[in-house]
Amino acid sequence: MPIIYHDILALQAALRPYRSEQQIALVPTMGNLHEGHLELVKIAKQHADIVVVSIFVNPTQFGAGEDFDSYPRTLDADVAKLASVDTDYVFAPSVAEMYELLPPPTIISAGAITTELCGKSRPTHFDGVGIVVSKLFNIVQPDAAIFGQKDYQQLAIIKQLVRDLSYPIDIIAAPIVRAPDGLALSSRNQYLSPSEREIAPILHQELQSLAQQIIAESYSEKGLSVLVAQSRERLSKAGFIIDYLEVKTTQLDKVSANNKQDLIILAAAWLGRARLLDNQLVVAG
Ligand code: PAF
Repeated sequence: MPIIYHDILALQAALRPYRSEQQIALVPTMGNLHEGHLELVKIAKQHADIVVVSIFVNPTQFGAGEDFDSYPRTLDADVAKLASVDTDYVFAPSVAEMYELLPPPTIISAGAITTELCGKSRPTHFDGVGIVVSKLFNIVQPDAAIFGQKDYQQLAIIKQLVRDLSYPIDIIAAPIVRAPDGLALSSRNQYLSPSEREIAPILHQELQSLAQQIIAESYSEKGLSVLVAQSRERLSKAGFIIDYLEVKTTQLDKVSANNKQDLIILAAAWLGRARLLDNQLVVAG
């Protein structure tokens, strides 16, 4: 069973003896763990001797009217799942342990990238992610940290944070884990009703088919906007309320005319109470 710590100093004391000789990896989570999180732990195990999983529903990354209060908190079940993949330590702090003042007066803002994609409908979200991830990095001081590629924009922001704040941490990107029908695993999938759950995999199918069409149209800029518009229409007809569906370079820049690089299709769409996120790489031929 992993050893659980709720306070910062106790966790740091437990980790201190390992620092000189062993590698420590951090897997930051908000709990309510599923197979996707367990894959992150398995990847962490390949990169480090000691794996710390943080479980913290971070209030600063939820906007007004979002699901902070109702976000599922399932610590006992999470710890049992983490035991099955040999997690060494769980760090599950209270809100008061993490934030003496709420909102914290210090802001970690990643700049322009936070105003795009998810940032358009969640304008304060990435500042909240920035501060909590910085705090977790400072508390755990890991050699590596693992983040899922489903949250592609978050991953890009964390890579930028590590670069700009000189954190000596390897950021390891983990592939998206999907249900057998293709739906990307997410704690928020449980908000889907049975009928919405049947529709949900259409998002991934649509992104895959859009990727194929972009390749078939030889990446032409004009072709892209027509294809994206058609995809949006099909998703709306299937019942999704689209937050965004965009095609970007893998660095999240605008696609230029005569682009020849790999691209990424990024989508966020509501189905009932669930906001589904997904992305699909378009590999240049
Ligand atoms: O991806 C998440 O679950 C969260 O945004 C993270 C990185 C754990 C920060 O709270």
